[in-house]
Amino acid sequence: MLVLGIESSCDETAASVVRRDGTRPGVCSNVIASQAELHAEYAGVVPEIASRAHVERIVPVIRRALSEADVAAHDLDLIAIGNRPGLIGALLVGLAAAKAIAWSTSTPILGVDHIHAHLTAGLLDADHDHAEVFPALGLAASGGHTAIYRLESPTEIARLGGTIDDAVGEAFDKAATMLGLGYPGGPIIDQLATRGDPRAHDFPISRLDRGSLDLSFSGLKTALLYTVRGTPMPGPDGKPVFPRDHTSLLGEEIADIAASFQRAAVEALLLKLERAGAAHPDVRALLVGGGVSANSLLRERLAELANERAIELRLPAMAYCLDNAAMIAGHALHLWDAGVRDDLSLAGAPTGATA
Ligand code: KG4
Ligand code: ZN
Repeated sequence: MLVLGIESSCDETAASVVRRDGTRPGVCSNVIASQAELHAEYAGVVPEIASRAHVERIVPVIRRALSEADVAAHDLDLIAIGNRPGLIGALLVGLAAAKAIAWSTSTPILGVDHIHAHLTAGLLDADHDHAEVFPALGLAASGGHTAIYRLESPTEIARLGGTIDDAVGEAFDKAATMLGLGYPGGPIIDQLATRGDPRAHDFPISRLDRGSLDLSFSGLKTALLYTVRGTPMPGPDGKPVFPRDHTSLLGEEIADIAASFQRAAVEALLLKLERAGAAHPDVRALLVGGGVSANSLLRERLAELANERAIELRLPAMAYCLDNAAMIAGHALHLWDAGVRDDLSLAGAPTGATA
């Protein structure tokens, strides 16, 4: 079975061909056109800029994914489109392209939840029986979403808790902006943290209520802001005025703050995963996905946790951590197997079933 995946929910335009022979899904091509440089000056994704860039890139990206996989559009058995959640204008570009190919080649189309696809990205290219993995706990940690799930199968997914304010990737991005680093901030902080002392600052790790599986990153963000810019005083117009900014910090001070921030953000995720593990002792594996799953400290700590609990860890290969279309195609195969079908009336939705 040959699947074309298309992803355009945020700031990457992506297309991928995944072939399944027997039970093993193999990625034949994985093309990603990042728009990061277009949004860098705003330190965040600007929806209208994203939509326009998708319009320019979607056709060449799909063409390249097909040619790298050496397949023609009429060879495809399924068109998979990430149709929720995301920026609605951005989603509609990918959806229109997916429908055009599905209609013109009479190929079935299937809508995929982007977060669900992140959760099962660790099953791509893997030589194993999926049945061994479930029930599983899942962590989706990205720039737009941070939540913990229980999965009975690749398609039966229940949300156990999630962030009540910022997503963890968004916190990384904002921390980098406060420190005068670039965008997106996650990879820059990850890199810089290798040179800093993670215990230099005792940043808060939110616990919330006893047993809660929700997360919060706003306290951590505020603590970092005050560390970088000092305690604010009310200015003449009543607005807070900070005594300094990041330019007064030395390189090693910035590295220490980055390392301490990363430690607190990662430990906040681990704390809730430990709680989830205690509340769900029957799980056999931990599935993790989303851009922050590329973080080196998080990957290290997750491996320790899985080891301690004697459960399997399914972390996506680096190429499938950040937004990509291979995960969309891979997840579509699970949905197809579960009997899910869509048609050309498929709509985009800014929020997903589990957002
Ligand atoms: O999954 P993704 O590509 O897009 C969304 O669905 O949001 O995630 C992007 C997020 C950004 O916030 C980025 O800073 C973060 O993932 N990220 C990282 C790392 N690489 C990307 N965060 C921490 N460490 C990294 N190495
Ligand atoms: Zn994502």
